[in-house]
Amino acid sequence: MIIRPATLEDEPSIREMYLAFLNEVEAFGYDIPATPESVEKAWKSRFRPTIESKGPIFVADHEGAIEGFVAMTGLIPIKAINHGVYVRPAWRRQGVGYALMWAAKKWCRQLGVEKIFDMVSLTNEAGLKLMAKLGEEPVAFAYNLTA
Ligand SMILES: CC(C)(COP(=O)(O)OP(=O)(O)OC[C@H]1O[C@@H](n2cnc3c(N)ncnc32)[C@H](O)[C@@H]1OP(=O)(O)O)[C@@H](O)C(=O)NCCC(=O)NCCS
Repeated sequence: MIIRPATLEDEPSIREMYLAFLNEVEAFGYDIPATPESVEKAWKSRFRPTIESKGPIFVADHEGAIEGFVAMTGLIPIKAINHGVYVRPAWRRQGVGYALMWAAKKWCRQLGVEKIFDMVSLTNEAGLKLMAKLGEEPVAFAYNLTA
């Protein structure tokens, strides 16, 4: 398994995994619809421009099969928005998520990025523990306005 920058040739795999990601993950309590339209919008507005500008989208490549990705988009001078990290279920708990995040984190540090916005829900134990294993500490919360 190698972790490498994504290219436009990875488009089908990234689209497929992003759809699986939307189906699986509850982020911030937002339920972004897991539809072809959502994937299309994300690909055109975030994924493709980031890849074209050689920004921080990395894939986990096992002999040409793409088994995971991390995408950090929406970069502004000191921040990055982490739109998600995903590993196909068969490859989980083998260090792939950690390796993807490590690559993205290294990229961010080189650019002087100090914070990432990670839309990880408090119910997402795997997502939270992954960030903890990377040595990252949460500094903010999001609240549901229910009252
Ligand atoms: C979160 C996710 C990317 C982790 O990928 P992974 O390749 O399985 O992660 P790793 O094997 O590198 O695990 C690194 C650490 O994360 C934590 N972790 C990963 N999966 C976990 C789980 N199911 N339960 C608890 N901790 C978990 C552990 O601390 C683990 O270290 P350890 O194996 O030494 O205990 C994967 O579960 C996934 O794709 N989930 C769906 C998408 C998602 O929730 N993304 C995060 C929000 S953006």
